[in-house]
Amino acid sequence: MTSRRDFLRKAAMATAALSVGQFIPAVSGGRNRIIGASDLIRVGVIGVNSRGLALASSFAKMPLCEVTCLCDCDAKALERCQAQIVKQTGKAPRCFADIRKMLEYKDFDVAVIAMPDHWHAAAAIMALQAGKHVYLEKPTSYCPAENELLIKAASMSGKVITAGNQRRSWPNVIAAIEAVKDGTIGEVRYAKSWYSINRPSIGRGKEVPVPEHLDWNLWQGPAPRRPFHGNYVHYNWHWFYHWGTGEALNNGTHFVDILRWGLGVDYPTLVTSVGGRFRYQDDWEFPDTQMITFQFGNKAAGSWEGRSCNSTPLDGFGVGVAFYGENGTILLGGGNEYKLVDMKGTVVKHKFSTELTFEPGNLVNPSEKLDQIHFKNFFDAIRLGTKLNSDIVNACISTQLVQLGNIAQRTGTALHIDPATGRIIGNPEAQKLFSREYEPGWEIKL
Ligand SMILES: NC(=O)c1ccc[n+]([C@@H]2O[C@H](COP(=O)([O-])OP(=O)(O)OC[C@H]3O[C@@H](n4cnc5c(N)ncnc54)[C@H](O)[C@@H]3O)[C@@H](O)[C@H]2O)c1
Repeated sequence: MTSRRDFLRKAAMATAALSVGQFIPAVSGGRNRIIGASDLIRVGVIGVNSRGLALASSFAKMPLCEVTCLCDCDAKALERCQAQIVKQTGKAPRCFADIRKMLEYKDFDVAVIAMPDHWHAAAAIMALQAGKHVYLEKPTSYCPAENELLIKAASMSGKVITAGNQRRSWPNVIAAIEAVKDGTIGEVRYAKSWYSINRPSIGRGKEVPVPEHLDWNLWQGPAPRRPFHGNYVHYNWHWFYHWGTGEALNNGTHFVDILRWGLGVDYPTLVTSVGGRFRYQDDWEFPDTQMITFQFGNKAAGSWEGRSCNSTPLDGFGVGVAFYGENGTILLGGGNEYKLVDMKGTVVKHKFSTELTFEPGNLVNPSEKLDQIHFKNFFDAIRLGTKLNSDIVNACISTQLVQLGNIAQRTGTALHIDPATGRIIGNPEAQKLFSREYEPGWEIKL
């Protein structure tokens, strides 16, 4: 077996050979310190079926980073991910089925969480309490009350926690937001965001035996227990209220986060939503067609449109954000690019990169090189104390905006929000959805 010393030597050599200067600055901002082999970051990835598999593979390619452990309650997913890392690095990460056991393991510094949404806040808080830094996939949580717990836990821990809002680190998205903020299109008071795709029906599931390779108790974790149905795992849990958060948080979170960043706003004052599960009659509970609106006092307004079953693009982009200014519009698609459009509708600038691109045909890991810029920002925050591009407070506020949209949708009411706290004013029915019930023994504890 390779000793730690050997590993560090090899990692340092690999870094030199790859000459990826963009990832290892000789002298970095923050504390002006040279990064050396002792800055190795050991990563543990939790939830490794789809996004977690891509994250494990991408983190394993980062210089001075080793994926030392993996966790999944699905033995098949775990095995596949371990094989992937062995193929890439020649070393087998240690495997765990139970997150609680993995968090007792000492040989890792960073927990990367890509579990289903009902697990996000609970797992992140458990990892922080175990002394780990955390890379938490969006959305930050299942419900607004969990955002409050997460922000508190993060500040108590003294650890670095970032969210998987990776576009916050993509160079041309940053350039677009700078252009929005520096007055290129004059004052901006309205922005819209959208996501469109063609998703098939998930059918009607029925209770079936839990597959042998899956621990259904661990999968459910903090959520109250339910019988296993054939159309929950993997992925389709996204469309069920009990575990998921719908398209609005599955994909809307990314774009509402950019919208809020560009407008320079935090919590809204009013949130509404219209829509429904219109395309198919099946078990899918969230809307497949949804329009959420946000009022930010008298400062600005914004919206998110989601079409899960009609992928017709808006303004040339299937997904995106548009900032409307006094003198023009800035349009961002889902990739690392933006367009500046004048008041006649003419594109006067199209900023894109031919190297750092989003690959729409790549269903597994469409933006690996771009995402690694986000990982580097996270690693710099751990090693050098530099500023995070997606800090947990901002990530929680963006998540909460969309969660409030879903609460407005489910209750059929307009929500009045206290902009200082993000809490719902009045409306007891909506207040009930601000938090959730937990499976006894799995409550989140600070
Ligand atoms: N940032 C992005 O661009 C991006 C892209 C895709 C997905 N995501 C996010 O990543 C998360 C995962 O999405 P997915 O599509 O991979 O879902 P998925 O259902 O395919 O995978 C989730 C995995 O978590 C595992 N899991 C569940 N409970 C667990 C437990 N107690 N311990 C360990 N593992 C457990 C499941 O068995 C499964 O392997 C979602 O929250 C999603 O929003 C983010």
